[in-house]
Amino acid sequence: MTATSASSLEDFIAALPKVELHVHLEGSLQPETLLTLADSHQLSDLQRSLEEIRSWYEFRDFPHFLEVYRHAVQVLRDAEDFALLAAETIRSLARQNVHYAEVNFSLCDHLERGIPAEVVFAGLEQGRTQVEAEHDITIRWVPDFPGDFGVAAGERTLDAVLTHGPASVLGFSIGGLEVDREPFADLFTRARAAGLRSLPHAGETEGPDRVWSAIHALGADRIGHGIGSMRDPALVDYLREQQLPLDVSPTSNLCTRSVASLEEHPLPRMLEKGLLVTLNSDDPPMFGTDLTGEYRTASRMGLGPAALAQLARNGVQASFLEPARKTALVAEIDATAAQHDAAS
Ligand code: ADE
Ligand code: ZN
Repeated sequence: MTATSASSLEDFIAALPKVELHVHLEGSLQPETLLTLADSHQLSDLQRSLEEIRSWYEFRDFPHFLEVYRHAVQVLRDAEDFALLAAETIRSLARQNVHYAEVNFSLCDHLERGIPAEVVFAGLEQGRTQVEAEHDITIRWVPDFPGDFGVAAGERTLDAVLTHGPASVLGFSIGGLEVDREPFADLFTRARAAGLRSLPHAGETEGPDRVWSAIHALGADRIGHGIGSMRDPALVDYLREQQLPLDVSPTSNLCTRSVASLEEHPLPRMLEKGLLVTLNSDDPPMFGTDLTGEYRTASRMGLGPAALAQLARNGVQASFLEPARKTALVAEIDATAAQHDAAS
């Protein structure tokens, strides 16, 4: 690629109006902020240099990533810490021309550490309202619990959401180690009955059976990752027919070694099969990326500008934005694509 076309690709990705449907708030903690909070709370085990944090963010495998993630979240203690993290994360999204985001956060981890739900929600809402007033961006929250913490921890998390959660809470997510999803069926039935969207991780490190159970047992409205679906042609057919969205994050899968190389990542095949794929950053600074970085990565994987614009449209379609804003955002994506000769 010539210098000119590289810079025009960069301009196109920057100009493309985007949504982000799968990003973890705590996984968005910048190393500098982590160190500031570790200092202010005098957490000696996390008082390290930036270089040490960067090498700490090199993961042997998915369980090792989770170990580091669970250690890092311990710098978040007070409502001000959550407000700072929320404001920084949302500002970073706004700078990338993201107009709407569904932001996952590890409520269960904080509750299990003894942080009250009121503290977490107060901080998140302070950051959200502050940055929504400054930028053209809307945020909806998706509280998450790790499946490996068990059903009772999931129940405590949902109770806290239903008691203390603000109206900006959109959905409910299971993450962590990808254990069997069947035992969580009743929990998700209760979450859905309360009006929450079912947004489970499935098929990130495991295979099609987890995705099937996310669909049948958890009533998934979208699947987090879902790359393991490609091993079952009947599941691929089902996902295409239902146009059930899959939130894909190639750099995350590479950094957690869920895929061995970008060449082996199924994103291009998923699109070829007609699946409703969206592009997301997951835990951006922990993987040395952000959402625009994922569009660059998708381009390196062989997707041209028209496919990048389609990923942006898919994100809007798969989101829970109200219909009028979806129509307006898709029109903006179409106009940007036309200006950059990327119309489909
Ligand atoms: N928690 C934070 N990031 C996660 C991921 N990518 N998968 C599952 N749980 C997570
Ligand atoms: Zn995730």
